[in-house]
Amino acid sequence: MWTGIDPTVLVTGAAGQIAYSLLFSIAKGDVFGKDQPVVLLLLDITPMLPVLDGVVMELQDCALPLLRDIVPTDKEDVAFRDLDAAILVGSMPRREGMERKDLLKANVAIFKSQGAALEKFAKKTVKVLVVGNPANTNCLIAAKSAPSIPKENFSCLTRLDHNRARSQVAMRCGVPATQVRNVIIWGNHSSTQYPDVHHCLVNMSGSELACFEAVKDDAWLKGDFIATVQQRGAAVIKARKLSSAMSAAKAICDHMKDIWSGTPEGEFISMGIYSSGNSYGVPEDLIYSFPVQIKDKTWKIVDGLAVNDFSRSKMEATAAELMEERDTAVSFLGV
Ligand SMILES: NC(=O)c1ccc[n+]([C@@H]2O[C@H](COP(=O)([O-])OP(=O)(O)OC[C@H]3O[C@@H](n4cnc5c(N)ncnc54)[C@H](O)[C@@H]3O)[C@@H](O)[C@H]2O)c1
Ligand SMILES: *[C@@H]1O[C@H](CO)[C@@H](O)[C@H](O)[C@H]1NC(C)=O
Ligand SMILES: *[C@@H]1O[C@H](CO)[C@@H](O)[C@H](O)[C@H]1NC(C)=O
Ligand SMILES: *[C@@H]1O[C@H](CO)[C@@H](O)[C@H](O)[C@H]1NC(C)=O
Repeated sequence: MWTGIDPTVLVTGAAGQIAYSLLFSIAKGDVFGKDQPVVLLLLDITPMLPVLDGVVMELQDCALPLLRDIVPTDKEDVAFRDLDAAILVGSMPRREGMERKDLLKANVAIFKSQGAALEKFAKKTVKVLVVGNPANTNCLIAAKSAPSIPKENFSCLTRLDHNRARSQVAMRCGVPATQVRNVIIWGNHSSTQYPDVHHCLVNMSGSELACFEAVKDDAWLKGDFIATVQQRGAAVIKARKLSSAMSAAKAICDHMKDIWSGTPEGEFISMGIYSSGNSYGVPEDLIYSFPVQIKDKTWKIVDGLAVNDFSRSKMEATAAELMEERDTAVSFLGV
């Protein structure tokens, strides 16, 4: 896998809480390979540079064998140069009393600027993962602002939702999460997302069962299970007084590792990708979470899965939400 050049990886929001877990995992080889050296570029806003210096000191103090170089900066023309991978975690947080529209406008400004910086400075093969919320729409704005980079190279994080769904089913069945495969997260990374287990398999007592057969509680799978996954982010905030960070960092690693090395045979994962309007009736020009398989750093939507009326209505509701947000966001692009 080693190409002769160490991957150059940007993490934005690098002084924040997700990055605090994420940077360690990347630097120790969880994402790009256990023998693959990496160069880390760390971007945050100017007032956070002193904090970022502390993070850099800690990374140095980990004395990791694979970390070739660390570059902290508040400048896009430094952060986005010659990138192989960009993990865009930093975004404008919701503040007390802030209007939804103003929040979206602030994020459009950030992702327009970062998209333009990708266009100008990054490699054309760069893989961009957007985490900062609203992740789907921020990702779309970044992709639109970098027209010479293929839209397929942009994705947003719904792997945390995917892992949550997998784990809920596993706990219910009393098996490790690794024995549950092919859950699907459809749509937006929000409470309208649809965690779908109609194609999920659970390996129990030596053989693989359809999820509904393994769980034997349709009411739970169609009710509380869905609500628990949809509202898990809020539940973590309520308990921790901070949003998910350890689990978000783990999901980012899973997502980027699969882009880099591919998904296991027979398994699919969920990620927010550009919809060209050709799969599952999802409208085009949205970043929408689909089931995908990845090979040779190229994803393919898992097509042809049966969709019943229950699923269809939930998939449409989350698409409608995203269309509305896209149209507002795009109207801010010109200003
Ligand atoms: N998609 C997902 O599954 C998922 C899961 C959890 C969190 N999130 C989102 O991830 C984001 C980060 O979460 P966190 O807990 O690390 O937040 P945090 O507030 O701890 O850290 C965010 C960091 O981003 C920085 N930042 C803000 N604007 C920036 C810009 N323009 N350029 C570079 N850096 C910038 C901030 O200064 C801060 O250091 C939030 O938007 C959160 O909602 C997404
Ligand atoms: C889509 O999900 C994001 C992330 O949770 C959220 O911020 C945004 O408001 C959602 N979109 C709409 C239109 O509700
Ligand atoms: C299911 O689990 C058993 C062990 O309990 C294992 O031998 C088998 O390989 C697993 N099957 C799959 C498809 O993962
Ligand atoms: C990214 O774009 C390159 C072409 O620059 C392409 O070969 C690759 O398959 C794309 N990656 C993904 C994840 O689709």
